Amino acid sequence: GRFDVDHVTSCDSTNTQLLTRAERGSGAGTVLVADQQTAGRGRRGRQWQSAPGSSLTFSLLWRFPREQRLEGLSLSVGIAIVHALSDMGIRELSLKWPNDIWLMGRKLGGVLVEVVHGTHGDMATVIGMGLNLQRNPDWDENLGASYAALVELKEGLTREAVLAAILRELLAVLDVFAREGFAALADEWMRYHAMFGSEVSIEQSGLVRHGRCGGIDALGRLEVETAEGKLRVFGGEVSLRRR
Ligand code: BTN
Repeated sequence: GRFDVDHVTSCDSTNTQLLTRAERGSGAGTVLVADQQTAGRGRRGRQWQSAPGSSLTFSLLWRFPREQRLEGLSLSVGIAIVHALSDMGIRELSLKWPNDIWLMGRKLGGVLVEVVHGTHGDMATVIGMGLNLQRNPDWDENLGASYAALVELKEGLTREAVLAAILRELLAVLDVFAREGFAALADEWMRYHAMFGSEVSIEQSGLVRHGRCGGIDALGRLEVETAEGKLRVFGGEVSLRRR
């Protein structure tokens, strides 16, 4: 098949591991799944923590030509995750720009895409995903109210089945992304846009602005209507909150 799946009981971070393998020339389709990560990473330098076995944490190595625009990649991965889970009968999923997966308005998981330059004029991307399968015993009341786990909605889901479904959908989405770019996926992403029309605050390099959340453009930038006019923001170093 297109994937070469490797499973470890524990590692620091599947993203970190695959970044190293990417630099050493591992091919597209390499997948690393870990039961436990000791230094799981989230966006903006945050940690991704989960009790051993309570979440599906894995990364996929994928290569693109150097000229490919990658801004919309993590949004595209979100679409693949929602498609896969919908196929398994899970409803009430939405996407919180730029890269969180929500279930019933609470965080189910997130995507972390990292890029290294390849040696043959290509770019290697490491696409990491963490999805809560079970409620984490470490979640206190506050966290419990803002996080969701898959088994709350559907019992008997196995990690293997969820992984297989996501990889299958990723193949389809990555193919469209590589051929046509994010522009071909933006409408599909909009169908799951959690914050559309909400009053939001957006923080970028320490500067907080308020406005009404709009849609996304063909590169995956979020449009926010503020008193000073329309902002277009890339996902990179931005945090978005509902007010
Ligand atoms: C986020 O919510 O900010 C993104 C979380 C991404 C977590 C996944 S778990 C597998 C992969 N390895 C990591 O260290 N991070 C990603």
